Amino acid sequence: MNSSIVNTNYDLLPGSYLFSTIAQKIKEYQGAHADADIIRLGIGDVTTPLIPEVIKAMHNAVDEMAVKGTFRGYGPEQGYDFVREAIVRGEYTARGIEMDPNDIFVSDGSKCDVANIQELFTENVNIAIPDPVYPVYLDSNVMAGRAGVLQDDGRFSKVTYLASTAENNFQPDLPKNPVQLIYLCSPNNPTGTVLSRETLQKFVNYANENGALILFDGAYNCYIQDESLPHSIFEIPGARTCAIEFRSFSKTAGFTGVRCAYTVIPHELSKLHAMWNRRQCTKFNGVSYVTQRAAEAIYSPVGWQQTKEVIAGYMRTAGVIRKELTAAGYTVFGGEHAPYIWWKIPDGEKSFDFFDRLLATCEVVGTPGSGFGPCGEGYFRLTAFGDYERTCEALKRIREKL
Ligand code: MLT
Repeated sequence: MNSSIVNTNYDLLPGSYLFSTIAQKIKEYQGAHADADIIRLGIGDVTTPLIPEVIKAMHNAVDEMAVKGTFRGYGPEQGYDFVREAIVRGEYTARGIEMDPNDIFVSDGSKCDVANIQELFTENVNIAIPDPVYPVYLDSNVMAGRAGVLQDDGRFSKVTYLASTAENNFQPDLPKNPVQLIYLCSPNNPTGTVLSRETLQKFVNYANENGALILFDGAYNCYIQDESLPHSIFEIPGARTCAIEFRSFSKTAGFTGVRCAYTVIPHELSKLHAMWNRRQCTKFNGVSYVTQRAAEAIYSPVGWQQTKEVIAGYMRTAGVIRKELTAAGYTVFGGEHAPYIWWKIPDGEKSFDFFDRLLATCEVVGTPGSGFGPCGEGYFRLTAFGDYERTCEALKRIREKL
């Protein structure tokens, strides 16, 4: 093959995908220390089994697939009505937000949706991303040739970075340069902090006044403990004409291995709504019937109660991480409305060096802050999705050995 036919934008990406790099480092350590007892608080992957209501719904759906009269082949690319309506009732009507089920596009993951959405836009559109943030927003735009080149300061030349730091209470300022696409993530991955109603209103006003679009990732909204905090961008007046929202069952209902999510494109954004519909119909065949029945099940009264109990369990773990690190003299953020704890590491130490030191001294894995953006340097992310007892053991090792 002639190498001139490949998309050379891929060459602009630094190294491998963050969580693949971490996985490789763990593998190398395990290879060199065969009896290492590693505690993984790195990638945000769930560990609690699916709730009984979900399992019941999956079993029932499998039985339906075994019978001629109820067997299903291809489903609607946008998702079955039963799950779109359940999402509207459980997520939006319940919070006083009006939502049309036809604005919900069910998919097999938010990672794919947030990475794929950028193909609806021209190559020269200017993007803004929070710093630090989930790396997929940036990487997918680098692949599309929209980010420019990586500079010595760790920033891409054509990207506007919205610093979200302890100094601004994790409430980023509006972009200084003109941008047309703004990614926001609340609760934020990795800092675990929540954008206030005022901050979101400021961004919605900016977007409407400047013809920009907000891509709002709400994958962790179900971890918000304070009902007065915004859970959805659509709680903000004016958002329906300037925002798309991404939601996932991965962290809400333990679906990282099951795969189900949804993207909300209000019909007010009729052009984008039609384009995404066209894209999904062309490139996607929908989520399996069994999986959509599983997702629907979390919205029954019993399913919701069981779901909330699982979330409460993870938040208990988050509370312990916060408490123990604080007691050991560290400064931490997040972990109150999100399953991530943003840990300030000793001054001057690089977060990837801290990763190596924590692994070597405690055999505990986390995620280096700089992997999420330049403003993440000096920080380290721990996930509360790990097993409770093992997380307590990790904290004991940190207190005693680090
Ligand atoms: C994370 O650890 O940030 C998440 O697991 C990544 C993801 O949800 O894709």
